[in-house]
Amino acid sequence: MISPIVSVPKVGTSAGGPASGTAGLVDALEGGAVLLFPDLDFPLSAFERRFVERPFADGKAKNVNIRGEAATLKGAAGTAEEQAALRALLMRYRAFAEDLIRTRLPAYAGKVSLAGTSYRPFEVDQRKLSWRRDDTRLHVDAFPSNPIGEKRILRIFRNINPDGQPRRWRVGEDFGSMAEKFLPRLPGYSPLSARLLAALRITKARRSEYDHLMLHLHDALKQDKAYQAQAPQADVEFTPGQTWVTFSDLVMHGAMGGRYMLEQTAYLPVADQADPERSPQRILARKLGRALQ
Ligand code: SIN
Ligand code: FE
Repeated sequence: MISPIVSVPKVGTSAGGPASGTAGLVDALEGGAVLLFPDLDFPLSAFERRFVERPFADGKAKNVNIRGEAATLKGAAGTAEEQAALRALLMRYRAFAEDLIRTRLPAYAGKVSLAGTSYRPFEVDQRKLSWRRDDTRLHVDAFPSNPIGEKRILRIFRNINPDGQPRRWRVGEDFGSMAEKFLPRLPGYSPLSARLLAALRITKARRSEYDHLMLHLHDALKQDKAYQAQAPQADVEFTPGQTWVTFSDLVMHGAMGGRYMLEQTAYLPVADQADPERSPQRILARKLGRALQ
């Protein structure tokens, strides 16, 4: 099954069927859907519009972002005034994402922790990246230095392109079908090397077996040209002004084109899902027929 895109009308409009109730949205999300909010308001001020006219990025990193309590701005370019305004825009987007969770996914409110917020001004496919960093290839998200353990990666995206240019994605088959094909090829987990990576501070915490499997899945997927070309997949376009939300550790995706996007990452403990059995952690354990280490 290919990941469905579930369009969610604004609260208070008559178009909202049963699936637009908050329980229905959580059910769709945990089942591997992309929730599409076509018409939420997030206007840019006259001053902020410069951030969609040219990239305010130092070009060294893939994106500009704020992180942590201090919300330190990383990777930005521009005057001090412009960088302060870009940081404020990202903080406002973080509040927008938080509000979206509180109002449309209230079961997760108070459970998620917000991680980085990013501004992605560059055209997706014009950046020359190694295959591992090439996000046009279908993949699930996994972070090499930042073990995720018993948490889920929930992401809130918004296209802020000023010229009508869509963010173009591909979405792939469901996680379980993908895992069945790739699990047999992955190298075994070594608790000893996981402890070593943490001791050497290559990872910020111990890499669990789940983290190990996800990193190798990410790489194996991106390296498999035949799979990339032939696996079940669908093209999706997110037009300017649209907001979309998905578990990017569960939903196979690739970013094919577009520039100027905002993104918020949130972590949700597996135990706080409506149904933890639908997490990639539990799906992988079931496919292996044992608990993960
Ligand atoms: C990704 O998570 O693969 C990138 C999504 C995007 O930049 O549109
Ligand atoms: Fe990704």
